[in-house]
Amino acid sequence: MRAIEVTEFGGPEVLQLSEVEDPIPLPGLEVLTVSGAGVNYADTHAVENSYLAAQELPFIPGAEVVGTLPDGRRLCGFTASGGGGYAERALVAPAMCFEVPDSMSDAAALSLLVQGLTAWHLLRTSARLQDGESIVVHAAAGGVGNLAVQLARQWGAGRIIAVASTEEKRAQALAAGADVVIDSTAPDLAATIRQANDGKRVDIVLEMVGGTTTDASLAVLAPFGRLVVYGMASRTPATPIPPASLMVGSHSVIGFWLVDCLRSDPVRRVAEPLRELVGLVVSGALVPLEGPSYPLAEAAQAHRDLRERRTFGKVSLTVP
Ligand SMILES: NC(=O)c1ccc[n+]([C@@H]2O[C@H](COP(=O)([O-])OP(=O)(O)OC[C@H]3O[C@@H](n4cnc5c(N)ncnc54)[C@H](OP(=O)(O)O)[C@@H]3O)[C@@H](O)[C@H]2O)c1
Repeated sequence: MRAIEVTEFGGPEVLQLSEVEDPIPLPGLEVLTVSGAGVNYADTHAVENSYLAAQELPFIPGAEVVGTLPDGRRLCGFTASGGGGYAERALVAPAMCFEVPDSMSDAAALSLLVQGLTAWHLLRTSARLQDGESIVVHAAAGGVGNLAVQLARQWGAGRIIAVASTEEKRAQALAAGADVVIDSTAPDLAATIRQANDGKRVDIVLEMVGGTTTDASLAVLAPFGRLVVYGMASRTPATPIPPASLMVGSHSVIGFWLVDCLRSDPVRRVAEPLRELVGLVVSGALVPLEGPSYPLAEAAQAHRDLRERRTFGKVSLTVP
């Protein structure tokens, strides 16, 4: 079969289309004929071996697939090994996949896995959003960000402050339900966030940029405010935080990694939230933002566009 195989670490250029062996079904695992594969920001880290889990060569990137089983069922789910998704066929555990409703596109289904589940957990498990709380969502037109804005609106957030780098992305964040949008390139981000919240500090920040964006996000927290750190898109670490500095303001800094949900309690932390997310989409309450889709052979371009901030919503690969 054809797949994108990475045989050396590097930038998007190492994503090469190759001819590889088909996956072999195993007990509890079946071969899905892939029609679409999700592209996530984490994939760009895996390709250069800079993510939280060390990567071994060679490998096929991609943890999310949608497609059909030999019995004709259209399923969407995580790949069995956490990789192997950028391929014509992938191994999945059908018991952990969801059946895709006819009305749902491949991209919409894929958006609910890494990104939908992350948005769900950031709000429910990590930040524990309460009615009326103000929240800042960075990269608010991105895969996670757009869904987080929509879910925060739905789950009773107060003022939602969306951060994004372009006019077009800020318009998408407003359409998703943000009250106010700000430019991520503002010279004094902390002051800009406070202005956007009528001069007040904020209750929650969902932060995935790193560097000075993390610093600014911590600086704007209200008493009992929570900063949830779940990424480092800039690949730049923030200023270290001495734990004692969190006492004044009773601030929390919370880390989140979806892999911990998959490893610790996949039924309660993955299957159940996924069921809720699918229901929200079917009812029309949640509308995934479908971003650009690329043919499998153009995976390198998808990674280039994602890294260079040219994408919005769910980025995916289509597999003919
Ligand atoms: N911890 C977890 O379990 C988990 C799960 C899913 C995702 N994540 C993380 O969440 C973040 C969003 O993931 P996603 O897949 O939904 O991606 P995405 O938001 O669709 O795309 C990344 C966005 O990050 C923003 N960004 C800010 N600074 C950037 C920089 N220096 N370089 C590149 N992009 C920058 C850009 O939006 P603007 O142009 O608007 O700034 C860009 O479009 C990533 O950092 C990812 O690693 C973590």
